Amino acid sequence: MKLTVIGCGYLGATHAACMAELGHDVVGIDVDAYKIERLQAGEVPFFEPGLSDILRRNIDAGRLRFTTDHLAAADHASVHFLGVGTPQEPRGHRADLSHVYAAVDALVPTLRGAHLIIGKSTVPVGTCAELAQRISLLSHSGADVELSWSPEFLREGFAVEDTLEPDRLVLGIGSLDPDGLNTAAQDPGAGSSAGEVVREIYREILETGVPLIETDWATAELVKASANAFLATKISFINAISELCEIAGADINTLADAIGHDPRIGRRFLNAGLGFGGGCLPKDIRALTARADDMGAPRAVGFLREVDAINMRRRGAAVELVFEALGGEVLGRNIAVLGAAFKPESDDVRDSPALTVASRLALEGASVTVFDPKAMDNSRRVYPSLDYASSARDACDRADVVVIATEWAEFVHMTPEELEGVVRARRIVDGRRCLDPQMWRDAGWDYRALGGPAPT
Ligand code: UGA
Repeated sequence: MKLTVIGCGYLGATHAACMAELGHDVVGIDVDAYKIERLQAGEVPFFEPGLSDILRRNIDAGRLRFTTDHLAAADHASVHFLGVGTPQEPRGHRADLSHVYAAVDALVPTLRGAHLIIGKSTVPVGTCAELAQRISLLSHSGADVELSWSPEFLREGFAVEDTLEPDRLVLGIGSLDPDGLNTAAQDPGAGSSAGEVVREIYREILETGVPLIETDWATAELVKASANAFLATKISFINAISELCEIAGADINTLADAIGHDPRIGRRFLNAGLGFGGGCLPKDIRALTARADDMGAPRAVGFLREVDAINMRRRGAAVELVFEALGGEVLGRNIAVLGAAFKPESDDVRDSPALTVASRLALEGASVTVFDPKAMDNSRRVYPSLDYASSARDACDRADVVVIATEWAEFVHMTPEELEGVVRARRIVDGRRCLDPQMWRDAGWDYRALGGPAPT
């Protein structure tokens, strides 16, 4: 099938490459000429395991190309995925939908005949109904443009796998009546071709048994927001319990293992530590809270404010732990922060707990040196005043304390012997509870873990 993907950032570039991998003929479109140039040259402008192979293979096979020309969309296909970013507004907690509107405004007037737009970006509930009105205003008289929404659930670091082997596909369909009112709730499927088209696009994936949940616009929009809200809540839940473990002297890892055995709870996303960051969970819980306020239901998801607060507290708690490890003063002390990305297998530093901790310690007067295997360029751009080393060993040179802030495998597998004679003092703060406490203590290190003492 011929497809376009509008917006070639993290989500769009991955989606375009994966759709081509499924055999479709794909054009990716973005306003950013630099990004398009790199993608067309087969280079992924961010770190994502496995993506560059797929990108190159499909460009070489002639199934995938990238352009800044928005008119190419109408020429190339009648099915258009929308994968532009919806970041948090600079002032406030709402999602900034300006890129979504700009993409629709650029695309819709160019369309003639029957077209289907399939939105993938994370948008607040009610967005599709508003966009559909805009689409009907912008549509040429000879055009029949349908809007559907199929939220994306991919994780950074597993983007290719999550796109090609998803847990589920969700498709929200709807329509406006002649008065511009949303008829989705009554009969979402009436007159829609979206289900059929989506089943054809994802045929190979659906044949493996992946469920396709067809629903109305609002449900699809809320499925995505609630999935991320649930994940964020799970992480903040375990971090809240870890605050009790700290006081009680209990071990949060053992506790998580024990409750995680209950299949109703499950062990995944119960890792206590520095909490969640990145471009999705923090902004999505804030956007959902803001949307609930706007809808006149501030109490419905009021607990998400607490989820956010618990999460942000972990960063302060990590800073305090470093103070404690250094006897209450960090001024003039050398601190190695290992990790800058918001999680391993990513170079994304948006809302990264690691960099919040590093910058706060620097503000307190410490001499902070950061190392991350993949996120150095992005970190330098966001926090140019921090010091950066070219390896973990260099970052630890004459360190008074080493802080593990992102659980990259190379830090998890690091041994005390590797740092012997490198650090000034044997102190380590495990912000992700990912090290073997016994190994470090046996080697004479002062080992401290965020979220309570690890068993001795
Ligand atoms: C998240 C969701 O997991 C995806 O399903 C969703 O599609 C995506 O947002 C999105 O909306 O686009 P992602 O932001 O890539 O994916 O990252 P996660 O793997 O969810 O991790 C988020 C953060 O939680 C990281 O900072 C991670 O270190 C932290 N985390 C995760 C914990 O602190 N503890 C855990 O047990 C798990």
